[in-house]
Amino acid sequence: MRNLILAVLCSVTFFCLSCKRQDSMDRIIRESLEFSLEQYSAMAGVMADKPDLLPRTIDKDGNLVTAGSGWWTSGFFPGSLWYLYEYSNDPKIREYAKMVTSRIEKEKFNRGTHDLGFMLYCSYGNGYRITGDENYRDVLLTGAKSLITRFRPNIGCIQSWNSRQGWQFPVIIDNMMNLEFLMWAFSQTGDSTYYNICVSHSDVTMKNHFRPDYSTWHVVSYDTITGAVEVKQTHQGASDESAWARGQSWGLYGYTVMYRETGLTRYLDQAVHIADFLINHPNMPDDMIPYWDYNAPGIPDTNRDASAAAIMASALIELAGYADSEKSQRYLEVAEKQIRMLSSPAYRAERGSNGNFILMHSVGSLPAKSEVDVPLTYADYYFIEALMRYRQYLEMR
Ligand code: GLY
Repeated sequence: MRNLILAVLCSVTFFCLSCKRQDSMDRIIRESLEFSLEQYSAMAGVMADKPDLLPRTIDKDGNLVTAGSGWWTSGFFPGSLWYLYEYSNDPKIREYAKMVTSRIEKEKFNRGTHDLGFMLYCSYGNGYRITGDENYRDVLLTGAKSLITRFRPNIGCIQSWNSRQGWQFPVIIDNMMNLEFLMWAFSQTGDSTYYNICVSHSDVTMKNHFRPDYSTWHVVSYDTITGAVEVKQTHQGASDESAWARGQSWGLYGYTVMYRETGLTRYLDQAVHIADFLINHPNMPDDMIPYWDYNAPGIPDTNRDASAAAIMASALIELAGYADSEKSQRYLEVAEKQIRMLSSPAYRAERGSNGNFILMHSVGSLPAKSEVDVPLTYADYYFIEALMRYRQYLEMR
């Protein structure tokens, strides 16, 4: 009898604790989405007077820095507004989202960069998903055609940057983030060219970008004649052999998406290996917000990168839906910790500050001394995406 009473007491306590935990995540997510809505409404009001431009970051005096549609981050602010419209159903946010999305249209003809996934799929892709606007679909399909002109069959990859710095055919790990866009084009058109390019790019990247411990090089450059690997180096990391934090998050996100889109278990295995490498890394801080590079000199006295954490959190929430139950639980715990931390005053700005961006403390390129310890649109975008994904997870359990 005594044992029975104890067991009942324990399960009631456990039930209350998990309800409390869920309540508090509910509250944090709602509060962070409301905050994002306020900040980005104010930002959209500012951007209404800046035709053709998109927000990028702030300068050292706190003034807004903008960029044109050709900068790789142009799609994130429109994409964030689409998520916030999806959350709020506020017609004003929808108008703002349409306004800034249209600023990127001309990039559908851009064959000079691999970044069309970020630029077009985050903006037009979310816009199409939410509104079904056929004009958005046309822009996306034109953009997808432009992007695949950068695929070279003898290498098996999409070229990231044009030849530079002695690199004939540089492919960066970030490029995995374009594949969701191309897999969407495959699902819309049935053209297997898109599928084959995505699978080839993922397989060649898996073979050449990853070290035995599942960390990734940033840049792998290929010889255009032989198709062989030319060099493995870094551009934004601490050294050629280091694990640049955002690059690791891009890889995690990219292989998670490729598993979702193809059902090929080698991509799930890859995503799980990357997740486990990151979560168990000796230089991962307890709060799960990575340093800008897992091998940065001076750890712990160096910058964190909120963008790497936001991308990782969003990817882990999705990956938790595919992994076995033990890993899934762990991935959700880590994502929860990251969301809690990013939603705290340590990373989330105060209302009306931070140039109307949401998160503080991201790193663009520390070696180039560019955008160090600043807000960045992509940190905000993946933070909002993680909030939306976790919210959906809470609703479904
Ligand atoms: N794709 C550029 C970056 O992650 O900084």
